[in-house]
Amino acid sequence: MHTKAVVLNKIHQAFALGNKTIPILKGISLSAQSQEFLSIVGPSGSGKSTLLNCMSGLTQPTAGQVLINNVNPYQLSPSKLAQMRRQEIGFIFQSYNLVPALPVFENIVLPLRLSGEKIQRKTVQNLLEKMNFAADLNSFVTNLSGGEKQKVAIARVLLTHSKIIFADEPTGAVDSISKEIIFTLLRKLADDGACVVMVTHDIELAMRTDRTIILKDGLIQENLIKPTASQLLTTMEE
Ligand SMILES: Nc1ncnc2c1ncn2[C@@H]1O[C@H](COP(=O)(O)OP(=O)(O)OP(=O)(O)O)[C@@H](O)[C@H]1O
Ligand SMILES: [Mg+2]
Repeated sequence: MHTKAVVLNKIHQAFALGNKTIPILKGISLSAQSQEFLSIVGPSGSGKSTLLNCMSGLTQPTAGQVLINNVNPYQLSPSKLAQMRRQEIGFIFQSYNLVPALPVFENIVLPLRLSGEKIQRKTVQNLLEKMNFAADLNSFVTNLSGGEKQKVAIARVLLTHSKIIFADEPTGAVDSISKEIIFTLLRKLADDGACVVMVTHDIELAMRTDRTIILKDGLIQENLIKPTASQLLTTMEE
């Protein structure tokens, strides 16, 4: 049975700019379930990352309700919220969010260390190699290219066995072969039962997810089940 992994009910998000308040999300209602691969597309600045942050317990919206596995993350104590994020959620950030002072291996196993899980270096090496990255696990992440950093960030999430994965443009910095590999890994996570929510600018990838929402002017402009390229192009041009 598919369970509702994330539910959003009339989410609003606004940011203060000087003495003004700029509305970014203007009432977003949406749910995503287990075994579903949902993509979010929309123009740059339309609030895709903002939406993902609200959905994942990172930033509390100014109004509206968020439920993650039937729990409102913003009603939890900071320690319970941290626990929920660690145990239930994997987040691949647009900006990678790696720790510069740590080598590749330590960056990847950081969440596992926090939950007391042990992992072999070989397992990590194999996973990166599967992503077309023959990494030196001892090198510092500051020396990596954008695409390599992205692969480290993705490996970190893949190893946590999270059932809800948020990915903010996970293929934004990589070549086309790596893009295909990363997409296939995410597709498999969803097929194996996870709920995967991916922000992307890539129409060809969005087409291969189960459902695409198009975000525009702070609202969901379209909710398309298995959209075709022409459907996506038409709605995005409007
Ligand atoms: N913490 C913040 N404080 C103030 N403004 C913010 C904050 N976060 C986002 N914004 C603004 O909200 C708008 C939406 O930003 P967001 O990063 O969500 O867009 P996006 O759709 O992810 O864009 P991109 O495709 O370029 O990644 C932008 O105008 C941005 O400047
Ligand atoms: Mg963004």
